[in-house]
Amino acid sequence: MSATKSRKVVLVGATGLVGSAIIQTLERFPIDPEPLVLMATKKSADRKVRFRGTEMRVEEFDPSAFDDAWVVFFSGKDGLSEKYCPIAAGKGAWVIDNSAVFRMADGVPLVVPEVNPHEIGPAPRLIANPNCSTVQLAVVLNPIRKNFGLKRVIVSTYQSASGAGSEYLAQLNRDTAESLEKGFGGLDASSLAFNCLPDVGSQDIDGKFSEEVKLENELRKILGMPDLPVCATAVRVPTQVGHGESVVIETEKPADPDEVRSLLGESDGIAVEDEFEAREFPTPRKATGMDDVYVGRIRRAGIFENDLAFWVVADNLLKGAALNAVQIALYIREREKAALVHE
Ligand SMILES: NC(=O)c1ccc[n+]([C@@H]2O[C@H](COP(=O)([O-])OP(=O)(O)OC[C@H]3O[C@@H](n4cnc5c(N)ncnc54)[C@H](OP(=O)(O)O)[C@@H]3O)[C@@H](O)[C@H]2O)c1
Repeated sequence: MSATKSRKVVLVGATGLVGSAIIQTLERFPIDPEPLVLMATKKSADRKVRFRGTEMRVEEFDPSAFDDAWVVFFSGKDGLSEKYCPIAAGKGAWVIDNSAVFRMADGVPLVVPEVNPHEIGPAPRLIANPNCSTVQLAVVLNPIRKNFGLKRVIVSTYQSASGAGSEYLAQLNRDTAESLEKGFGGLDASSLAFNCLPDVGSQDIDGKFSEEVKLENELRKILGMPDLPVCATAVRVPTQVGHGESVVIETEKPADPDEVRSLLGESDGIAVEDEFEAREFPTPRKATGMDDVYVGRIRRAGIFENDLAFWVVADNLLKGAALNAVQIALYIREREKAALVHE
């Protein structure tokens, strides 16, 4: 069977936060994997997972599962992606990778389906899924860029604990319970419980942390604006799911807040919730479990001649990872179906 006609889908990292969200998202979209192969480490082998009403067994990671695969989703660790994504792609599978390893690699498309799906060509078969904070910002900035031009972006993130994986989320929950029981005294100042941490990721260049550098570089690549000035400050906050972003932009042309509200409200993948009088705005809790990127607090910033300030929230496990990855697979599936009709 050619890779194009295969419907075999392999998920590496099936027991993680993103992997679990990919399984739930695949249930909702007409991708119909046949078979769906779920893989994780040896310790998770034989775990049972439900997919469309059927109980499925998680297998220990084995790269021979890539044989005849149509799509392989990677949602494991960076090192695993680095070694095995090229192997899976070399076997003819479309590889959609959630790690940071290939995102900035020349020739590897970094794709948000609402923004740049056309960058998926017949090759390479390796496609990078962007960082969670980048996806939601790119979805919102793209229509603004097209209509008003974009001169600079200043963004501060309020990133939930789930963005750092299941172990980090579990640690936050343990620390929170301990603080409530015993008081704050025993907790290290670097614990996220009842705290905010302005140092997300590893130390990078010029006093920036890696999460900030990822956001800045990935945004430029996705929007196709290599020289766009972007300044990101990434902050981890003790929410469970859903990343918030406070954004200030300078535009080329004047952008009236009402006009931007209408524009964003009509754009794919965006929901505007912006009721100043009623104080109705997006929050991480509201965005959890939702597909859309939510925008509110749209207003003039009052610091550049043409500017805007606004607040963006999305479910980091869905649009920030699993949903975006599945939408990429769906785009490929639809393109292949159209090609088969013309064969
Ligand atoms: N969390 C987010 O919001 C988010 C957003 C965008 C991108 N990402 C990226 O998505 C990836 C997964 O993130 P996550 O939050 O889901 O992490 P996670 O909850 O820690 O899950 C990691 C998954 O990878 C599996 N795994 C680890 N090492 C493996 C190995 N050697 N062989 C096979 N499977 C292995 C784990 O299996 P076991 O359960 O058996 O250990 C688990 O299923 C990461 O690259 C992350 O940077 C995450």
